[in-house]
Amino acid sequence: MNYKIALVKGDGIGPEIVDSAVRVLEVIGEKYGHSFEFNEYLAGGAAIDACGDPLPEESVKGCLASDSVLFGAVGGPKWDGLSGDARPEKGLLRLRQALELFTNLRPAKLYGGLKDDSPPRADIVAKGSDIMILRELTGGIYFGERGYREGKYGKEAYDTEAYSVMEIERIAHVAYQTAMKRGKNLISVDKANVLETSRLWREVVHRIGEQYPEVTCKDMLVDNAAMQLVRNPGQFDVVVTSNMFGDILSDEASQITGSIGMLASASLGNTKRGLYEPIHGSAPDIAGTGKANPIATILSAAMMLRYSFDLTEEADAIEEAVNKVLDAGYRTADIAGGAEGALSCTEMTDTIISYL
Ligand code: IPM
Ligand code: MG
Repeated sequence: MNYKIALVKGDGIGPEIVDSAVRVLEVIGEKYGHSFEFNEYLAGGAAIDACGDPLPEESVKGCLASDSVLFGAVGGPKWDGLSGDARPEKGLLRLRQALELFTNLRPAKLYGGLKDDSPPRADIVAKGSDIMILRELTGGIYFGERGYREGKYGKEAYDTEAYSVMEIERIAHVAYQTAMKRGKNLISVDKANVLETSRLWREVVHRIGEQYPEVTCKDMLVDNAAMQLVRNPGQFDVVVTSNMFGDILSDEASQITGSIGMLASASLGNTKRGLYEPIHGSAPDIAGTGKANPIATILSAAMMLRYSFDLTEEADAIEEAVNKVLDAGYRTADIAGGAEGALSCTEMTDTIISYL
């Protein structure tokens, strides 16, 4: 089969890690008889520099005309002074919205080889951890009304969180369906003791749950969830939560896996077209030094094969190769505690390819 993949490399380490994932995909293509056609589009700071817009129309059109999108990362100090709508991050947010990618799957799986590199205590990590976080991606406070106004104490800024019944229903369905394919254990995270949106969230999630009687669904307040993730990550199977809570909790969960450099993600909507990106950012401090960990992006490419193209065997092969490389003790600087002898981005990619 021929697959058309849009590459949006972005800023900082974005280009290096996307190039690594492309090399892996090319090897997979050769081995399994697929051809991948790659087309590059601009977003983020790179797009601002080239044409003054963090998401040029051409990039939206190109992504919409592709079978899937592989995304690096956006942002950096160079563009920090820009106003909200002009920032690199806005390019990513607009792209998620343009492609109607309302579900963000963020698997936080502890690879056996990294047990000693994970910050939680050994006895906690020993129990293992394999969490699928579903983050709502096109609603909530990220997209609500915002601005500046005169408030009680003078000038104030505001952002608003809003969720419609429809938006909660559709992510709840995906959450229950995901739980059905895994341990049938769903935890819905909210702040229902304070927020109205969370109370609606809770009500809708439980109503949808009546259609999935085999799944056990428990509510957990977000502050407690933040604590439980560190205390006992093994209790989580599938987690569903709002855009902002999901952003925060997925970074926290990445620390159970050893490094944020390990966490892949898939953003999906109602079609097969998805956007696949590592959950970490553009890491401008290490851009160009070769220190970036390509694994999150390589695992994101594996998710693309699995979710957009139904190439299960090929996706398994990539994940298996990563697993073996970690078991064999290979590390990039982020998972080796910055130790001497850590592999560069290119060397780690070469090593993963050699295990394919
Ligand atoms: C993420 C990132 C983005 C987000 C930023 C870059 C806009 O932190 O994908 O987790 O907040 O969604
Ligand atoms: Mg984030």
